[in-house]
Amino acid sequence: RMLICVGFVGLLLSSGCSNPSLSVVDPSGEVGRTQLGLIYLSTGIMTFVTVVVAAIYIYVVIRFRERPGDTHIPKQVEGSTTLEILWTVIPILLLIILAIPTVTTTFKLEKRPAPSEKAVQINITGYQYWWKFIYPQDGISTANEVHIPVGKPIEFVMQSHDVIHAFWVPSLGGKRDLEPGRVNRLTLKADKPGTYDGKCTELCGASHALMNFRVIAHQPAEYEKWVRSMKKPASKPTSVLASEGKRLVGQNCIGCHAIRNAGYKILGATGPELTAFSERTRIAGVLDNNPQNLRVWLKNPQNVKPGSRMPSFGHLKKKQVDALVKYLESLKGRPQ
Ligand code: CUA
Repeated sequence: RMLICVGFVGLLLSSGCSNPSLSVVDPSGEVGRTQLGLIYLSTGIMTFVTVVVAAIYIYVVIRFRERPGDTHIPKQVEGSTTLEILWTVIPILLLIILAIPTVTTTFKLEKRPAPSEKAVQINITGYQYWWKFIYPQDGISTANEVHIPVGKPIEFVMQSHDVIHAFWVPSLGGKRDLEPGRVNRLTLKADKPGTYDGKCTELCGASHALMNFRVIAHQPAEYEKWVRSMKKPASKPTSVLASEGKRLVGQNCIGCHAIRNAGYKILGATGPELTAFSERTRIAGVLDNNPQNLRVWLKNPQNVKPGSRMPSFGHLKKKQVDALVKYLESLKGRPQ
């Protein structure tokens, strides 16, 4: 059983090392590093306690075992004041060593960035089972994938639309609940550009385990470019099929999904924003973003993400689905 446990822990640790990063032991930000320090400290103390207790246990079992020919009852011990003081004081000391950095770190993480740090504010709303990201300073919005500049504090201001969710990007650190009717904050900073996977870590319904998101960190200049591109008019359909797709999106999708700067009069707000959709790396946070998977998703979203509010478009003709896919996969924020 021990072997299985060790193997399982090893598997957990190693599975975190793939790309994109989803690993607490390979942090890419200050908060993650501080928390890793705490993880090492607590693991160290726990290992020390386990080793000492196991060693004493094994020693006692061997040293005082019943030997053949033993007939007399050993000396009965009623208690030892010295030992009792020792095994009370040592745990108290260990807990104090653990508590001081834990409490100070907790308060440090609560601190909001100073105005001089020019933090980027990103508002997050959690929905069953997707993430809305709004950039109030820039007036843009995305879903399930959030772009940030490296080296700058990012102040995430979060709440929930329905049930409790939790925001966690293991590589950057943190973890904060999104609660309905309450605003929580978490400030993170990425040191290097990269893609960091994030997960919902509060059981929130059937597709909790599929409520994924990604943090994409860019160099500041690249990030500014991305922000500008998100404000540009969407690329115009370049084929008859894509034009038909644009019309069908207007009929079928735009009531729930917003596509900014594409000429639609409505900006749906109940579903994930689709502006610059083709630049997303994944569909609904679960499938790789490609035309094939988009067809799979449109046909029956419940197969992919049970409990999702997205209705099925299985009733559309193949040609119509082709048109929808063609148009959505042509939506680029970036100038061509
Ligand atoms: Cu949202 Cu779990």
